[in-house]
Amino acid sequence: MDDIINNLKSRILFMSNFAEIREKFEKSGQGHVFKYWGELSDRQKSQLLAQLEEVDLDEIAHLNETLLFANKTESQVDFSKLAPAPYIKYSENKESDPVWQKAKSVGEDAIRAGKLAAFVVAGGQGTRLGYDAPKGTLPISPVKHKSFFQIFAEKIRFAQGKYGVEIPFMVMTSIINHAQICSFFKSNGYFGLNPENVIFFKQGFIPSVDKSGKIILSGKDEIALAPNGHGGCLRAMVRSGAIARLKELGVEYISYFQVDNPLVNIIDPYFLGFHILGGSEMSSKMIPKAYPLEKVGHFCIYNGKLCVIEYSDLPASYQEQLDENGALKFIAGSVAIHILNVDFVEAKGSDDSDCKLPFHVAFKKVPFVDGNGDIVKPEKPNGYKYEMFVFDALENAKNPVVLEGLRREEFSAVKNKDGLDSPAACKRDQKRQFAGWLEAAGVPLERDSDGTPVFDIEISPLFASNKSDFVEKWKALDKKPEIRDGLFIE
Ligand code: UTP
Repeated sequence: MDDIINNLKSRILFMSNFAEIREKFEKSGQGHVFKYWGELSDRQKSQLLAQLEEVDLDEIAHLNETLLFANKTESQVDFSKLAPAPYIKYSENKESDPVWQKAKSVGEDAIRAGKLAAFVVAGGQGTRLGYDAPKGTLPISPVKHKSFFQIFAEKIRFAQGKYGVEIPFMVMTSIINHAQICSFFKSNGYFGLNPENVIFFKQGFIPSVDKSGKIILSGKDEIALAPNGHGGCLRAMVRSGAIARLKELGVEYISYFQVDNPLVNIIDPYFLGFHILGGSEMSSKMIPKAYPLEKVGHFCIYNGKLCVIEYSDLPASYQEQLDENGALKFIAGSVAIHILNVDFVEAKGSDDSDCKLPFHVAFKKVPFVDGNGDIVKPEKPNGYKYEMFVFDALENAKNPVVLEGLRREEFSAVKNKDGLDSPAACKRDQKRQFAGWLEAAGVPLERDSDGTPVFDIEISPLFASNKSDFVEKWKALDKKPEIRDGLFIE
């Protein structure tokens, strides 16, 4: 009898919950999400309701109004007031330059003292690449076909050995890939890292909408939820408890990077040193643009503050502008490599923080249910996603430092299936980097006309993770391996 009464009670609760949610969605012009309600099983109904309960309809309405219908970003910029951002120029002689040496020593002291953690943002959907698994699991190294995640983990292990310290590794995932990423690490033994110090956490999400601002149904029983952009990491780090854990471990600085760039120098004492010496709360690496219209963000000064203006938001005439010396005026490209202070993230990512990152809108491919109730994977972008960008936090940071890096040593991102920024292009860039390291150690290599070594080579991050460490270790080798196609140095 009790069971029957309890069942009845939960049924009544479910129905009143349903009625309340339905009314809210109808009122907001989003009632179509219940289109297939009558066809759903009880389990499917509960699943859909659970998703809908999490949706902030006021936020969607605000974003539709301000971004989609008005066709602009939340932050409006008067381009005539934009100036290029100052930055610390790269020194070819950093090993003898006292300023760079000072930075290195400050950075190394902080790393040795366990004050640095690594952080990869891996919550994105990678729709342009179209790979059927999380991007970080894609085999990408040229000879051993290691995944991005393995390369990052091994770079961290190399630094742990070099500095004699354990370096926590945070991995931000999202609703779309959390389980897969966690099990990828687990089934690969965390690539040799201590599992206790690999910290996974999920970022927030937001529904994708069609051109009329209607929430897209990705199934009869689910709406299309997308991660809320890499800028969602500030809030996610705080809410998930990742920041609290870092504080327990005595970590003060976070080395932030993206999942698609295997060249990244994750543990860079120079960068950390300049960040600390500059009294900065959030710092960035910049790489000079390869050509005027390169699709990267531009470091600029606006209203006296450092900011990044996306290529899509900056008119071509500004992207192409030259300075009085004939060089590109807005040359500093953002490559999504930052150092953030733990205290800064804690303050800006907390729920009551006054720092609200603006949303931007992106047009992407979003699977949807068609009129027949069938799921369609579109060939072309069809939906709008709302995203926050982490670099928008720079405006809120004290003394942000921008440091120039070298593209060939630090940046080659995989975005597309073919052509520019493809896995093939990234493998080529890795081979060029490894060839450069061998040449720096006095080993000449045959390269083709575009500078790519004529055969496949790979240097394990466990042998060395940067040029100077490589040269030192190579010179110390008693027996040098033969240089041949498929050479793997470990
Ligand atoms: P991208 O801008 O390349 O976006 O992300 P994406 O979603 O991965 O790929 P496309 O645009 O659909 O092809 C740059 C970095 O930010 C992370 C990605 O995982 C990548 O490391 N990211 C992006 C997040 O962590 N969360 C997001 O919501 C978006």
